Amino acid sequence: MQNNYKEITSDKIVSDQLMKGAYIRHDFPGFKDDFAVIHCLVKMFTPKTILEVGTSHGYGTRVLCVAFGVKPFFSFFSPVYSIDVPPKTDPDIIYPDHEDGHPRLTGKHCRFIYRYHQLYGDSRFFDYSPYYPLEAWFIDGKHDYEFCTADTLQALKSKPKLIIWHDMQIEEVCRAVIDGMSKEKENYVLYRVVDTRIGFAVRKDVLCLL
Ligand SMILES: C[S@@+](CC[C@H](N)C(=O)[O-])C[C@H]1O[C@@H](n2cnc3c(N)ncnc32)[C@H](O)[C@@H]1O
Repeated sequence: MQNNYKEITSDKIVSDQLMKGAYIRHDFPGFKDDFAVIHCLVKMFTPKTILEVGTSHGYGTRVLCVAFGVKPFFSFFSPVYSIDVPPKTDPDIIYPDHEDGHPRLTGKHCRFIYRYHQLYGDSRFFDYSPYYPLEAWFIDGKHDYEFCTADTLQALKSKPKLIIWHDMQIEEVCRAVIDGMSKEKENYVLYRVVDTRIGFAVRKDVLCLL
């Protein structure tokens, strides 16, 4: 499986300079480092827009808003989009084994501070084209093979510069990413940040920045 991606360590991506002003996550062990990588990838590749799959409580959305320079309370426009299932969706429908869930109020740790566009629907079948150009994606929805493959293929439709996945340490996620990206080897280079849970793919025409 290793041959399908390049291994990289977070010190090649995260720097004090890029981290200036970043929102640091302390809500779960390891998230501080994972989301530092995400912040710095955004700073490095400067996409104009991003779509997050899986808003949940909005902590990741908040990291993205800060990385994109959205100002608290005052920004009118936002380059950040995030999708989750519609309000009142029974978590047991998505997670029958209770392996995850979603909050009653989607994005509650971001929506009252930073402006972003909250979308609702099933990420696998959602029509994102009205929101194009989407230059980056952060895929962090349901962490199984079917969902993660579908989310990856959805992202590729917009020909983004950058796709980031969380939880690459989950075997099904890793397989879905490798399989989903397998037809794109001419266009993208796939990386695994081995000291974090992050995977990412960069379009070859912007790769020189790494
Ligand atoms: C791991 S959480 C996301 C965490 C968040 N990105 C963060 O950084 O804190 C996964 C989220 O994906 C949502 N989700 C799962 N399947 C989905 C689907 N098919 N469409 C939209 N959202 C989905 C869940 O409701 C849940 O809120």
